[in-house]
Amino acid sequence: MLSGKKILVAGGNGFLGSHVVELLRSGDSSQVFAPRTQDLFDFRKIEDCDYFINKSKPDLIINCAAVQGGIGYHSGKQADLFWDNLAMGTNLLKSACMHSVPKFVNIIPGCAYPGYLEKDELNEEDFWSGDVHDSIFSYGFSKKASIVYGKALYKQYGFNSIHLVLANLYGPKDHYQPDQSKALAAMIKKFSDAKKNKQPTVEIWGTGKPVRDWLYVVDAAEGIIRSAEVYNSIDPLNIASGLGITVGDLARTVKTASGYTGKIVFNISKPDGAMKKTFGIKKMKSELSWEPKTSISQGIKDAIAWYEKNLS
Ligand SMILES: NC(=O)c1ccc[n+]([C@@H]2O[C@H](COP(=O)([O-])OP(=O)(O)OC[C@H]3O[C@@H](n4cnc5c(N)ncnc54)[C@H](OP(=O)(O)O)[C@@H]3O)[C@@H](O)[C@H]2O)c1
Repeated sequence: MLSGKKILVAGGNGFLGSHVVELLRSGDSSQVFAPRTQDLFDFRKIEDCDYFINKSKPDLIINCAAVQGGIGYHSGKQADLFWDNLAMGTNLLKSACMHSVPKFVNIIPGCAYPGYLEKDELNEEDFWSGDVHDSIFSYGFSKKASIVYGKALYKQYGFNSIHLVLANLYGPKDHYQPDQSKALAAMIKKFSDAKKNKQPTVEIWGTGKPVRDWLYVVDAAEGIIRSAEVYNSIDPLNIASGLGITVGDLARTVKTASGYTGKIVFNISKPDGAMKKTFGIKKMKSELSWEPKTSISQGIKDAIAWYEKNLS
């Protein structure tokens, strides 16, 4: 359905964006643009957004651009991260609207959901029902603000933007630097490195009991493209596996897949965080007639293979 369309993927060289670009290029979209910051495009500046959008005249923009990392990465950078992400999100939306781009797909992290709701499963109707978690407040709010702006552009100008809220991602080309990696990438690095260095134990923080929702990045890219084709509502839509896996089971799956034969030690003096955080996918399945197909064990095998080939 995107056949013959010109598509601009902002952040198209990042972890998620590069998979979106790869999938689009493997299909029949006529032209896919992925501007890079190393070519001096800076979407924090409206004039760079205007220049690129005017030059490429896209039929669709998919915004995967962001400055972010694991929770540690945000510490001491809260103000910069708020401003950079707010500027990028709102500038791209404004420029797209002013240049009459027919559709805009905005990518939102699951941490933009309320951080203190006592619910096992976060559904779209919960999205505006509470504060973002304090550990991630500035990044989460900057992304949330881009949805508010998208809604305002829709109300005032009829501009068509959609806002997809994604679960935690993992897979090939993930970030493995300790300050930028998320929990699963950090685990993959720990077990692969421990096997290589013949370490007797691998430490996992907490009891291993908390449950999380992990989405394979190629499935995420597929869900984004499917949404670009068929979803046209200003209301946020979850893109997630909808499945919960405990930290302990995740660690055992990574251990097996990596071939590590030592012991896992759970350090119960470290905090667990919320006991269960998964995302509801009922709306996703009915709106998209689609759901992710990669099992967590297969996805982890692929992620480890990529890590060991490229970074180990
Ligand atoms: N990673 C996850 O687990 C996860 C989970 C849920 C949602 N998400 C969301 O998915 C999106 C992408 O995340 P990611 O993990 O793929 O991030 P990433 O790998 O860090 O990629 C971010 C991209 O943004 C681009 N960018 C940064 N600053 C820019 C600027 N000033 N101007 C233009 N482009 C700029 C970078 O371009 P260059 O490469 O050219 O520098 C990079 O390609 C984010 O909105 C994130 O919240 C991610």
